[in-house]
Amino acid sequence: MGYSALMLVRDEFLQIQSGQELLTNRGRRETMETRFTRMLGIKYPIVQGGMQWVGLAELASAVSNAGGLGILTGLTQPTPEALVREIQRCRDMTDRPFAVNLTILPTIKPVPYEEYAQAIVEAGIKIVETAGRNPEPFLPLFKAADITVIHKCTSIRHSLKAERIGCDVVSVDGFECAGHPGEDDVTNMILLPLAARRLKIPFLASGGLGDGMGLAAALAMGADGINMGTRFMVTKEAPIHKKVKQAMVEASELDTALIYRSLRNTARVFKNNIAEQVLEIEDKPGATDFEDIRPLVQGIKGRELFEEGDLNRGIWSAGMVVGLIDDIPSCEDLIQRIVSEAQTIINERLQLMGSV
Ligand SMILES: Cc1cc2nc3c(=O)[nH]c(=O)nc-3n(C[C@H](O)[C@H](O)[C@H](O)COP(=O)(O)O)c2cc1C
Repeated sequence: MGYSALMLVRDEFLQIQSGQELLTNRGRRETMETRFTRMLGIKYPIVQGGMQWVGLAELASAVSNAGGLGILTGLTQPTPEALVREIQRCRDMTDRPFAVNLTILPTIKPVPYEEYAQAIVEAGIKIVETAGRNPEPFLPLFKAADITVIHKCTSIRHSLKAERIGCDVVSVDGFECAGHPGEDDVTNMILLPLAARRLKIPFLASGGLGDGMGLAAALAMGADGINMGTRFMVTKEAPIHKKVKQAMVEASELDTALIYRSLRNTARVFKNNIAEQVLEIEDKPGATDFEDIRPLVQGIKGRELFEEGDLNRGIWSAGMVVGLIDDIPSCEDLIQRIVSEAQTIINERLQLMGSV
């Protein structure tokens, strides 16, 4: 690690230590400061990543009220006007900062991305999470509105590009993550130290994070915070059926599958019957025809699965971190637990090692 990156880790470590002193008399951690929390004005370096059908106002506001950064998923709303209404609904539930995710992926049905971006700006949102494609075409609009842009990347080369084009924060999504991990298959053990060496802007560790050990490890590897998807799905406030949450509590780290590999559009999903059928189709000799898969993976079926709790209705994104999930806490309890565990590790276990 270069000298400056090392100093940066040390500086953040000192900040975390000073954060430890700010305890309320109930023993609650008042803050854990990093460059990221200072930039956004939030208490804890914990973000709830955008999640199709899950990132509604109930979850985003609960995460923000608990001191993290909640994110509404833009395209979960059927129109830009509906997104503006959802933003207002979220504002009614929290006065803390929250963000909107804009996922720019190739879709079967064309999406009016520019109109969604315009709606985000006009609604007065100040933090946007972009993902899926180079966000450069949207940056002039966002920057003119003084919006902080967090771009999600699955590789160092894309992270460096995001920094170069003017994104404010990079969310580094390792191979462990739910959703689209890219095609490089590099885990966060490698991606995060690389990001620490090469990036100047703050970055988040994303993928495989779900507890205080993960937060402490991510901070030790130079990250300014963590982004979690799967872990936040399994909370009281996540607006999905209890059976889906329970299936994830019971799942092990082996219960995810990588589908669409043959189409070079890999997605990590929960390993249910439908995911296994998709894999069988992809395993057949010759090129995969998406038309053979399409009826199984329609977005609407995933949404119905979340609403009705029929676990084999469609597919849903889930990360390897399901193996670390054992309960369904509130967002407040989850964030407090993660911060508290991380601070204990930093101040006790690591401190002891450093003082020898
Ligand atoms: C159900 C679900 C839906 C997701 N949908 C999106 C999405 O629409 N856009 C996006 O950028 N990321 C999406 N993600 C990825 C998350 O924002 C986050 O990057 C990822 O979950 C991190 O990995 P983890 O699940 O191991 O925490 C989704 C994740 C899950 C679990």
